[in-house]
Parts: sequence; structure tokens; C-alpha cells
Amino acid sequence: MDTSGYARWFRASTPYISAHRNRTFVVLLGGEAITHANLANIVHDLALLHVLGVRLVLIHGARPQIDEALPDSRFHGARRITDRDSMDTLLGVYGRIRATLEAQFSTGLPTSPLRNAEISTVTGNFTVARPIGVLDGVDHLFTGQVRRVHAERIRSLLDARSLVILSPLGYSPSGQVFNLAADELAAEVAIALAADKLIMFDADGYVKDEAGRNRPELVPAELETLLDRTAPEPYVANQLRAMLRACRGGVPRCHLVSYAEDGALLQELFTARGHGTELLEQHADAVRPARPEDVAGIVEVIRPLEEAGVLVRRDRDRLELEVGNFHVAMLDGIVVGCCALYPVEDAAELACVAVHQAYRGSGVKPGIGERLLAAAETAARAAGIRTLFVLTTQTRDWFAEHGFEDAAIDALPAPRQALYNYQRNSKVMIKHLESEDE
Ligand SMILES: CC(C)(COP(=O)(O)OP(=O)(O)OC[C@H]1O[C@@H](n2cnc3c(N)ncnc32)[C@H](O)[C@@H]1OP(=O)(O)O)[C@@H](O)C(=O)NCCC(=O)NCCS
Repeated sequence: MDTSGYARWFRASTPYISAHRNRTFVVLLGGEAITHANLANIVHDLALLHVLGVRLVLIHGARPQIDEALPDSRFHGARRITDRDSMDTLLGVYGRIRATLEAQFSTGLPTSPLRNAEISTVTGNFTVARPIGVLDGVDHLFTGQVRRVHAERIRSLLDARSLVILSPLGYSPSGQVFNLAADELAAEVAIALAADKLIMFDADGYVKDEAGRNRPELVPAELETLLDRTAPEPYVANQLRAMLRACRGGVPRCHLVSYAEDGALLQELFTARGHGTELLEQHADAVRPARPEDVAGIVEVIRPLEEAGVLVRRDRDRLELEVGNFHVAMLDGIVVGCCALYPVEDAAELACVAVHQAYRGSGVKPGIGERLLAAAETAARAAGIRTLFVLTTQTRDWFAEHGFEDAAIDALPAPRQALYNYQRNSKVMIKHLESEDE
């Protein structure tokens, strides 16, 4: 990357750095990721997140490692039955994986700027488990499920800046150890901690639709439909179901990221375009009235459009004063779109309608632009305004598709006519709003 490319990238990632600080991320690193050549890079990127102030809980899986150590395992569905002998083998496998991870976090990361990061990792008995028992006549023995997570104990370690590493094990009040499904544990830990994100890995990093296309964004209902229609392998389906469970349990964002591609995690977390599939509660929740702290984010969205002459440059001091006129579309704590409403007489001007380049025409319906428009219309109606107008140079068709009609300059309220810039030669468009009950 050349210097200016680097500077641009760094500037663009700055809002994400502050958005992620002090957030809690639960990360599931499956057994495939642990043996992959890219593991060192993933650990490095997790260390970077830790240094940037992210509170991390790392849970590891071990499916291929256990398959190798216990080739004669019995399964019920996709679930492994753990008997007393296999439990011994399994504890050895988990111990080795934990030690590998701890070693990786202890290396001082000599080839990187993080070499003095001093990351302290901690593990412990934070999961209470119970036996699954007998299902369809099959006794699952020491295969268990999560009964409770000691979230407060994990939180106090995160408060002390430790990185928590957990094996998929749980302990019963009678002192018995149970083997857990790592993806289920990750979901339960994320829910119990009220984590901000649950991050899981697979080779590709994307959920595919029926046509085999990558889906960068999904809501739970869409994922559920895809799971039914595409019937992925049971262990893939289980991981995605764990994401669904976490999302429905209140974890606002769950990410699937590639373990094979160097930098995929950072790209997913620090760039607008991302790299991987994000499962989020609702597309529609993200538009809200702007607050003073959103000004910097609004500027990030509109600056390129001002530079390109699509939007008229706004004085930044004025923007601070007028932030109350704005609505913003938020994703992951970042402003990805905005629009403003300026009442003029009994009408209102819709202005500064803009969506961050990376989120335009995302294919998700309704799109961000459309949702911003809907929020502005609702706000206008609530204020008793029945006419919206907009002045646009390059976006006429989009507004036309959303109910605006071409109008003459003299259709504008008189004070706005007086300010009309003939040189800019914007097109005037008007939309009459019906009241909610019409
Ligand atoms: C106009 C804008 C806000 C729409 O946001 P968005 O989130 O992409 O909008 P939606 O997802 O609701 O709609 C996307 C559709 O609008 C179309 N569209 C986007 N910009 C358009 C334009 N200038 N003219 C015509 N159609 C346009 C897209 O092609 C897409 O069509 P499709 O659904 O058939 O693929 C966004 O493109 C933007 O920020 N543009 C630059 C700023 C701008 O022109 N603002 C208006 C200033 S007055």
C-alpha cells in the first residue's frame, strides 16, 4: 500500500477503532482454524483487538483433532457421544490446544508493533453444565449442555484486561466434567455476557444463498430460511444455528469470517465493506434521529460527496448547530448514512440525503437510502408537514422512484426560491405526504 493509500485506510478505520473500544467480543476458533497456516495471523489480529481495548473471550473447538484422536467416536446426529475413556483423550486434546493458543499469545509477537503487548490469558471453571441425558434412546453420557455461565466472573477478568480462553467443557455441581459443543458454548457465553459481537470462523467466511452467492448481511429469519433450503453439512448448520441463537438472545451482531484468508477478520471489523457474513437483528432498526456525537460520522459520509460536487459543502460549525435536523443510519455503531429535514413555512426541504459509498445499493430491501427517507417522512408528518421538496443535481431518478415529482422553481416556498442557486441548476422535486390515516 502506498503512503496515501495507507493514510486513507487508517483514517477510514478510525471510527471503527473507537466504536470497538471496551466492547465485548466472543470469538469461536474452530478446530480447523487452529491447525490452519493462517492461525498465527488470526492470533496476531486478536492481539491487536485486545490492544485496541476490545474485551475478548476466545473459545476453541477441536472437531478434526478429536476425530483424529478418537476415530471410532459414536455420534447422535452431529453430536459426539463422550464416554469415560474418550473423555480422558479429549481432555488431552483440549489441553494441547489451549497450550498452543496460550503460547501464541505469549510469543511477544516479535515481528510486529505489538511485540510488547504483554497479553495475559486466563481460563477457568466458568461454565456450569448438565448432561444431555438420553435422546431417542441414546445415552449421551458425558456429553453435556450449558446450564449457566458465570458471566460476572468472566467480566471481572475482562475488567482486569485479561483475555479469557475457554475450552468447550462444563462442570456440574457434583464435580463432573462434561464435553460441550463449542459453538453452543460460544453462543451461551455471548448471551450471558451481553456481548456486542459473536465471531465465528469457517474456511470461506460467507453464508451462501441458494444460488451460491455470498451474503454479506442477513437477518435471523433469512438465515433460517437459507438453512432450511440449502441444508448445509450438520456441523456447518450447527455453527450457523448457534449464531442464530445468539442473535435472538440479544447479541446484536454475529459475524462469520474466513480463517483461511489473511486479514479477513480485520477487514470485517474495520472496513465499511467488511469481509464475511454479518447476522444482525433487524435491517430496519438502524435509523434514528442524529445526536451531537454523530457529527464526525456524518462528515465522513458527506465529505466525498461534497468533494464530488453531488452535495453542496456544509459549514462544519453550522452542521454542529443543525445536527438536530438530521437522521442517521447506523451499522455497528458507525454512521453509514444521513439525511436532513429543514422546515420552510409549511413545507420542509429534504437535504443531505447520503449513504456511505460501501453501503449503497446493498441489495438488502428496503435499502439504507429508502429507510432514511421513510424516517424523514415520518418525522415530517409528525411535525404536521405535508409537503417535502428536494433540490438535486444527480439523483433525480432515485427521488422519482420514491414518489417525488418534478416541479418548477416557483413551486418552492418563497424564502427557498430566493436562495435558489441558478448556477448549480438543481432540479426541484416535490412530494406530497399523506397523513398516516389517509
Ligand atoms: C441516493 C442514495 C441516498 C440512495 O441510497 P441507497 O441506500 O443506495 O438506496 P436504496 O438501497 O434505497 O436504493 C438503491 C437503488 O437506487 C438506485 N440509485 C442510487 N443512486 C441513484 C441515482 N443517482 N439515480 C438513480 N438511481 C439511483 C440504485 O441503482 C439502486 O437501484 P436497484 O435497487 O434497482 O439496484 C445513495 O445512492 C447516495 O448516497 N447517493 C449519493 C448522494 C446523493 O446523490 N444524494 C442526493 C442528494 S440531493
